[in-house]
Amino acid sequence: MKRILICGANGLLGQRLALMLSTQTEYEVLNTSHHRSFVFDDRLFDYTQLDISRKGDVKSLISSFQPTVIINAASATNVDWCEDHREEAWNANVVGVENLIDAARKVGARIIHLSTDYVFDGKQGPYGEDDRPNPISYYGKSKLAGENALRIADLPFAIVRTIVLYGSGLDVKQNFALWVLNSLKAGRHIRCVDDQISNPTYVSDLAYAVVKVFELTRQGVYHVCGGERISRYDFAVRIASIFDLDSSLIDRIKTSDLQQPAPRPLVTGFITLKAESELGFKPMDTTQGLTLLKRELQNARKN
Ligand SMILES: NC(=O)c1ccc[n+]([C@@H]2O[C@H](COP(=O)([O-])OP(=O)(O)OC[C@H]3O[C@@H](n4cnc5c(N)ncnc54)[C@H](OP(=O)(O)O)[C@@H]3O)[C@@H](O)[C@H]2O)c1
Repeated sequence: MKRILICGANGLLGQRLALMLSTQTEYEVLNTSHHRSFVFDDRLFDYTQLDISRKGDVKSLISSFQPTVIINAASATNVDWCEDHREEAWNANVVGVENLIDAARKVGARIIHLSTDYVFDGKQGPYGEDDRPNPISYYGKSKLAGENALRIADLPFAIVRTIVLYGSGLDVKQNFALWVLNSLKAGRHIRCVDDQISNPTYVSDLAYAVVKVFELTRQGVYHVCGGERISRYDFAVRIASIFDLDSSLIDRIKTSDLQQPAPRPLVTGFITLKAESELGFKPMDTTQGLTLLKRELQNARKN
């Protein structure tokens, strides 16, 4: 039986992967994350706390579980926090990956690792897998260093890069779509930039692609994102429209107005032809993704 170790299973993507994979009888799945407890009922899911930056813990867990594959969705993902907490960001995004690599090599496991459009500078999107990274934020630099640790490691790996993830989950960090939604529902004015352009990605779409990379034993880099390139401002307006909320609460601004600690790549987006042809990935456009999100939130309220 194939054994799958999921790291970062409490996160937005990690939860989705846990739900998709743990329910399949042909796999034995061990979910792990930073926190002592799992967001889902641990009578239904196998869960162990694991901080990937702790080398000894990673080594002993992997040598006892003997995974076939490690899916690393664990990461420090708050871009501004990473800019101000460089050591912690490096520990999660680079040292953590190095620890997984060392332990995986010993048991013959392969690694599927998640990365980001922030490895690019945002001057010439949309980007293909072979375009040259040039990160401008510390988060982007740490994610690229994590990717590079895999590239020089002597083990089979895949890197799945994605962009502006959105979706719902239990106690997940507020993503852009949920922030817009909650703000508009509360009648709060928000400011959204119209000069950051990329492809927002519905989390189930990404989880599908990651599972395909695993099932088809693919290696190398894959770009996976939503099918529509759109500014954050237009994305927020679309959210208002799908959820019947007041779009006049959304003010259009520029990135420079925000004075954020970390610089942002302005024009990214991915070319996803490789994922489409090799994984059968069919990217959803923003309206489809948001419609599914709306249904997801309605179902969660009913349960
Ligand atoms: N979110 C986006 O917009 C976006 C865009 C592009 C790429 N990505 C990439 O996609 C992947 C998944 O993102 P996501 O949005 O699902 O992230 P997320 O919701 O922030 O989840 C990340 C999870 O990793 C855990 N974690 C952090 N440091 C850890 C450590 N040292 N050991 C073990 N677990 C640790 C976090 O736990 P705590 O919450 O307890 O810290 C959290 O549960 C990441 O690699 C990210 O870089 C995300």
